[in-house]
Amino acid sequence: MEVNSSVNAGRITSGQKKPHEKEVNSLRPQSLADFIGQSRTCSVLRVMVEAAAQQGMPIDHILFYGPPGLGKTSLAQIIALESRANIRITSGPALKFAGELASILTRIEAGDVLFIDEVHRLNAKVEETLYPAMEDFALDLMLGKGATAREYRMALPPFTLVGATTRLSLLSGPLRDRFGAHFRLDFYNVDELCHILQRAAQMQENPLEESATRILASRARGTPRVALRLLRRVQEYATTRANGRITAAVAEDALSMLHIDALGMEELDRRILHLLVEKFDGGPVGLETIAAAVSEDSATIMDVYEPYLLQLGFLARTPRGRVATRHAFAHLGVPFPDEDDQMQLI
Ligand SMILES: Nc1ncnc2c1ncn2[C@@H]1O[C@H](COP(=O)(O)OP(=O)(O)O)[C@@H](O)[C@H]1O
Ligand SMILES: [Mg+2]
Repeated sequence: MEVNSSVNAGRITSGQKKPHEKEVNSLRPQSLADFIGQSRTCSVLRVMVEAAAQQGMPIDHILFYGPPGLGKTSLAQIIALESRANIRITSGPALKFAGELASILTRIEAGDVLFIDEVHRLNAKVEETLYPAMEDFALDLMLGKGATAREYRMALPPFTLVGATTRLSLLSGPLRDRFGAHFRLDFYNVDELCHILQRAAQMQENPLEESATRILASRARGTPRVALRLLRRVQEYATTRANGRITAAVAEDALSMLHIDALGMEELDRRILHLLVEKFDGGPVGLETIAAAVSEDSATIMDVYEPYLLQLGFLARTPRGRVATRHAFAHLGVPFPDEDDQMQLI
């Protein structure tokens, strides 16, 4: 079969990037050795990459899951770089028809990495096409129409599917089971984030004082993408308001201008907490009610805001809805309604 890997299928989004995106992407770690944190995941990946190279086999299909900005896309790219393979990048919502996936699969070369972001958003038809591709490296095609239609199985070169999702629970069981390895990415600690910030500042030849680094790292919600975003804002602030030097005081000023508090909470985090504590006496409150009250999409609240509030121990998910914890009441300086009070209210 003739495969032309230099031709990008319409949906493959590896082409033109905006200049701003390019700059951000150049900060992406390029190897497992460059990748800071997630040490258990990196150790297992290193073994998988080495074993595949030794056996001359493609790496097993891999699933990364966890909140946004923790390095799922970066790791997919690193896997391709480490195994000297091409990477094809697409996403669940971009693959609307099985034919689009088939067109990508027929262009794949042995050992290539196919990265599907937001893999929980594949539709059923596309997902069904993916099963034999993952399991048997085969593509089942329907040839002809009506009474003369017949199924034809086309062999595919062995490849590695890397999937990423923020919502493991929305992935169907059969799809989940076809990934040979699952990795949950965790929030990063302050030291790891300091390391990431220092590396970025060094690459941009824009030095960052140690004290300022710690301030940024401790307010980055455990998330490299947030840390790098704060770094850019603080760099802009430093060049326009403070002779370019990022001192602790400059970092503090820039962050307070952005309304980011000592815990890294943003305006919306605080609005969610105030809502739960002050309007709903701590809850439980349904996700949709919270979303409507703060005018934000419920998926964004669930993927972006809640994981950090959960991590801080301010929020708990219960079957009846979200509740603010004792810790959240203390943070806002509101007395925690004790059980006696609640009994009287009833
Ligand atoms: N461990 C890490 N070391 C250095 N930079 C990282 C690390 N993890 C993520 N980043 C950076 O954070 C940003 C978000 O990472 P990305 O891989 O796009 O996350 P995700 O795909 O999980 O949303 C990227 O700019 C990436 O370079
Ligand atoms: Mg990503």
